[in-house]
Amino acid sequence: MPAGHTPVLLQETLRLLSPAPGEVFLDGTAGAGGHAEEIARRIGPDGILVCADLDPSMLAVASERLLAVPFARFVPADFSELETLREAADGRPFDGMLLDLGISSLQLDDPSRGFSFREDGPLDMRRDPGSGDPAARDLLRRATEKELADIFYRFGEERFSRRIARAIVERRRRDPVERTLQLADLVKRAIPRKAWPREIHPATRVFQALRIAVNRELESLAAFLDGFARHLAQGGRAAVISFHSLEDRLVKTAFREQSAGEEAVISVLTRKPVVPEAEEIGTNPRARSAKLRAARRDK
Ligand SMILES: C[S@@+](CC[C@H](N)C(=O)[O-])C[C@H]1O[C@@H](n2cnc3c(N)ncnc32)[C@H](O)[C@@H]1O
Repeated sequence: MPAGHTPVLLQETLRLLSPAPGEVFLDGTAGAGGHAEEIARRIGPDGILVCADLDPSMLAVASERLLAVPFARFVPADFSELETLREAADGRPFDGMLLDLGISSLQLDDPSRGFSFREDGPLDMRRDPGSGDPAARDLLRRATEKELADIFYRFGEERFSRRIARAIVERRRRDPVERTLQLADLVKRAIPRKAWPREIHPATRVFQALRIAVNRELESLAAFLDGFARHLAQGGRAAVISFHSLEDRLVKTAFREQSAGEEAVISVLTRKPVVPEAEEIGTNPRARSAKLRAARRDK
């Protein structure tokens, strides 16, 4: 099963996408290739499966897993680059598209990537560390106190965003904030002990916010949602699994807008988002905030 997923979510994703023999599919977030493998099993051997991931190391993992799938194509691209991804499918529109947002446990568990506050590593957090784009440590060095507070508040819904931003700015006057444990410790100290969240590490929200900002994650999702329907075949399905309320809101709004009125091109397949069942979350805490929504292109 793909990491961070529960049987209910996986089954529902496949039911809503209903991949069928000979169809053309896009997995826009290939990751470790778990979903891609399930899709490949259903569309092969005459289908086409385009797997995209911005992280070259994840694309390598996915392609290794799908070594025996000759109709899988691997593209190191952002999932919002829909024209490029369609070209990889010989220009054909997609019968199905999947986005499973966020990060893979392989990325999270690799300290050298800087996504985790549990082990020490450089504060990088870029999907593609070789991209030349600014890393998290660059952002922490250059952003103003207000910019940092806005990032933590907006992308992390962190109540103590201002205190944390102030602590970072004070600290960087003396030495740069460059390591994961250094940041985690700084955040812990900036939040009053009695306000530490019970279920998550006190630095969870700040790390999530930084990752979203470093990779401009909401921009990519918004661009995908803007264009996806144009690249779906008639009757084609799209599913998005999100792990954050801001992401889910973007998906919900885009689906609602594009399914309303006379101009409507899609219909929404999930009146409410599909969420994992409570007892599944107990055994798989990463699935806690997962929400699945799907839509179909009608005309
Ligand atoms: C949660 S994992 C996907 C796991 C995958 N569904 C599986 O079954 O193994 C998300 C993946 O999407 C990639 N990703 C996130 N945002 C992306 C974007 N805008 N464009 C391309 N890949 C992206 C990440 O690098 C990561 O590998």
